[in-house]
Amino acid sequence: MTIDINRVGIIGAGQMGSGIAQVCAAAGLEVRLNDREADRIEAGLGTIDASLAKLVSKGTLDEAGSRSARERILSARTFADLGDCDLVIEAATENEAVKREIFSTLCASLRPDAIVATNTSSISITRLAAATDRPERFIGIHFMNPVPVMQLVELIRGIATEDQTYESAKAFIAKLGKTSTMSEDFPAFIVNRILLPMINEAIYTLYEGVGSVESIDTAMRLGANHPMGPLQLADFIGLDTCLSVMQVLYDGLADSKYRPCPLLVKYVEAGWLGRKTKRGFYDYRGPTPIPTR
Ligand SMILES: NC(=O)c1ccc[n+]([C@@H]2O[C@H](COP(=O)([O-])OP(=O)(O)OC[C@H]3O[C@@H](n4cnc5c(N)ncnc54)[C@H](O)[C@@H]3O)[C@@H](O)[C@H]2O)c1
Repeated sequence: MTIDINRVGIIGAGQMGSGIAQVCAAAGLEVRLNDREADRIEAGLGTIDASLAKLVSKGTLDEAGSRSARERILSARTFADLGDCDLVIEAATENEAVKREIFSTLCASLRPDAIVATNTSSISITRLAAATDRPERFIGIHFMNPVPVMQLVELIRGIATEDQTYESAKAFIAKLGKTSTMSEDFPAFIVNRILLPMINEAIYTLYEGVGSVESIDTAMRLGANHPMGPLQLADFIGLDTCLSVMQVLYDGLADSKYRPCPLLVKYVEAGWLGRKTKRGFYDYRGPTPIPTR
């Protein structure tokens, strides 16, 4: 029997958490948005307001639809505020220790039948499931960025994930009007296993002086018909997230072809994490992005 998901808790109100909150509320679900930092919840709600307003101005959503979606999203200051959720999706920072800590404290606040999911881009679902009290009701639900725009959601089963959990998650994604694919639990799953080594290679191409930021992005946009250049995409994803995914691939598959480019490490060490910090391979502080190399 699948569980009908009507109330969703979201942990982490950053780029992904706020996007997931928005699409759930727009699909008529009740949402509870949590973050470790209260001001991040406010910022996440602000991002949702701006995104809904854009949809209204484009005519894809009417005023009443936008208002009722927004009213369905409440802030959750503590995990206890997630106690009546059917599903809780963790979308906090891509760091295994942070996620394990969340799961080990979260579960005591939840109903025993609630499903717990992670939006991790790369970390083992089986390992994260082991930090919960319900590995059979734990699953990877990997949304793509930006969530309101991207059609795909990867579902990843851990070794213990029950069929009922998988079927409930699949029905939940269909309710959001999105398409799901199933991936086995190996490092970075399908999309990032293929995408991130390509981005890392683009950074090596820059590092070795084969091309400038502009040449590399133009080459892949016009030469491979990618809608966005790989360095622009890296800034969009967040360079800390890119580095973390490469490290998971490198450690998990023990193959030197996944070694993170030293230039990527340097940008992250500088705190130049891409769009979210206003500087990465491009500088976003002015009216138009300017390459930083
Ligand atoms: N950025 C992408 O393109 C992308 C795409 C798919 C999946 N993801 C995954 O989604 C997750 C979030 O990524 P993001 O880009 O939204 O990051 P982000 O940096 O924008 O947001 C992360 C949020 O998590 C919060 N947080 C950290 N520790 C917390 C805790 N203990 N409890 C509650 N909140 C906590 C932070 O305050 C922050 O607001 C990561 O696992 C990432 O790999 C990211």
